Amino acid sequence: MGTIKFDASKCGIAISDTLKKSATEANELLHAGTGAGNDFLGWITLPSSVGEADIEAIERQAAALRERAEVVICIGIGGSYLGAKAVLDAMSDSFELLHATHRHPIVLFAGQNISEDYMAEMMAALKDRSIAAIVISKSGTTTEPAIAFRIVKAEIERRYGKEEAKHRIVAITDKARGALKTLADNEGYPAFVIPDNVGGRYSVLTPVGLLPLAVGGVDIKALLAGAQEMERATAAGVGYEQNIAAQYAAVRNALYRAGKKIEILGSYEPKLQNINEWWKQLYGESEGKDGKGIFPASVTLTADLHSMGQYIQDGERTMFETIISVAEPAHEVRVESDEENLDGLNYLAGKRMNEINKMAELGVCLAHVDGGVPNLRVEIPQIDAHSIGALIYFFEKACGISGYLLGVNPFNQPGVEAYKKNMFALLEKPGYEEQTKAIKAKL
Ligand code: PA5
Repeated sequence: MGTIKFDASKCGIAISDTLKKSATEANELLHAGTGAGNDFLGWITLPSSVGEADIEAIERQAAALRERAEVVICIGIGGSYLGAKAVLDAMSDSFELLHATHRHPIVLFAGQNISEDYMAEMMAALKDRSIAAIVISKSGTTTEPAIAFRIVKAEIERRYGKEEAKHRIVAITDKARGALKTLADNEGYPAFVIPDNVGGRYSVLTPVGLLPLAVGGVDIKALLAGAQEMERATAAGVGYEQNIAAQYAAVRNALYRAGKKIEILGSYEPKLQNINEWWKQLYGESEGKDGKGIFPASVTLTADLHSMGQYIQDGERTMFETIISVAEPAHEVRVESDEENLDGLNYLAGKRMNEINKMAELGVCLAHVDGGVPNLRVEIPQIDAHSIGALIYFFEKACGISGYLLGVNPFNQPGVEAYKKNMFALLEKPGYEEQTKAIKAKL
């Protein structure tokens, strides 16, 4: 199974005892529940508090959806989408869609945009497939998933009738509030609760992530076990030298204070690309406020060495990189030997692709460090549910600590409201008459 390793030996910056102490104190503050945003700390003990009965209920519901549908559409945005998408992609065969048979339903995502083409193409592709839907919204009022759900709900009811729709639609939302809760109650949909004290971007280990993942065939028990292991490894009372979440948080803050305003998360495994997207939301929404915060960016390597590589090596020196390194791939592929050797690659013949990938990783790290881009490394043993669960909790814990070190509330997102107000005003939503007048005057 192995554990996650964090290596900051190439960050080129010494972490002062004061910062180490502050990082440890920030971790204690999270556990004490007396810091900023302390009504959203439920995620800290989620892995160890999800009970057998919760898991069984999720697995039972997943099995029921699997029985009925070839395709399950997960409708949600932000924290109600990115975690499931990230883990599912990491855990899936990269070419799953080309296999003749699927062991599990295909899980698709909708409601993460308002694109008419996306919706039209998805609905057209589903024409001859049996479908079901999981609709996820903590507030129950988010516009993007609400629009997508209207369309998918209408299609399910048209095809199967209202009665059968109750077996094909599952809602995940607040236990008492919001339009989705009312709708689920009125329509009689099975519903799962997003705990009050868990914010969207920290919710992947609640039914928000667990149900879509169970439908997609991910071993959610192993995912939670990995997260539990990291919960213990970063618990209250764990000292700085043992606590890799505190270390990562401290190092990134030290780099930020030294002028490194951008963090690029990268990996040499393309199936981790959406882990980057999940991480960007986690850190961007948690830290980017009050005029502060490291800008979270990402690359997928080695592909992006041929696009972003030039900038990273030679552009503005305001960034550092964090690489998620995978110790052991799941498969073995060796480079072929070629008699003519026209491409001059015979010196690699017989080598595993992974050996070459690892040398690319090391070579890039050394080049970037030489070029003034400090490198941090998070090593996971392999891409499996246990490691991904541990990685999720590692990043969540480090994010909480890091936000406190930065001096922000890592659990709110006041800036997300601005665009919504403008959009509602432009769409002339009832109740927005004044804003509509004001915004139209600006156009
Ligand atoms: O992290 C967050 O809180 C946000 O990104 C939300 O997850 C996102 O806005 C979706 O909200 P909701 O689940 O209420 O539809």
